[in-house]
Amino acid sequence: IGGVSDAKNLRVKLVLLGDSGVGKSCIVLRFVRGQFDPTSKVTVGASFLSQTIALQDSTTVKFEIWDTAGQERYAALAPLYYRGAAVSVIVYDITNPDSFNKAQYWVKELQKHGSPDIVMALVGNKADLQEQREVPIQDGVDFAEKNGMFFIETSAKTADNINQLFEHGVAHMK
Ligand code: GTP
Ligand code: MG
Repeated sequence: IGGVSDAKNLRVKLVLLGDSGVGKSCIVLRFVRGQFDPTSKVTVGASFLSQTIALQDSTTVKFEIWDTAGQERYAALAPLYYRGAAVSVIVYDITNPDSFNKAQYWVKELQKHGSPDIVMALVGNKADLQEQREVPIQDGVDFAEKNGMFFIETSAKTADNINQLFEHGVAHMK
């Protein structure tokens, strides 16, 4: 009755952190709905979305995604969302060096106050804006390597590397 399944079903709490305007909400919208919103509004407080994907080995993964607000006034709320998260995705904008500094700040904050086994991903978003690039890929690679994170550049606009970001997040958990 009911059949037998050897598939594993995982639930992964994932939090996105990073400066306002780097594209966190657009990354989530692209991953969950396959859309891009050029007029995306700033997030207030945080928003929650979930998405289930199937991996090649027939494992299903349900991501419970907390998309936090990057504006400074919400910074004190962040621990509510990163506490208990299995994966943290720290996003900067490759055209904005200040946002890269802010990403480094979040990494240090998670190292101090986050769960010790949290998987941290460093994401350089807006990779479609190559002509406006101000943060070299190598800076992201080096910082991620020093801090035991995985690194990826994405574009929520073109969808480049968006699914890979989430799939790698899980791969690093196992
Ligand atoms: P907060 O909610 O304030 O923390 O900002 P956020 O990080 O959620 O930024 P959001 O996703 O709202 O995107 C900010 C702006 O960047 C919007 O105008 C988006 O259309 C634009 N944007 C987001 N991702 C990309 C991208 O990959 N490429 C380009 N060219 N623009 C992007
Ligand atoms: Mg947002």
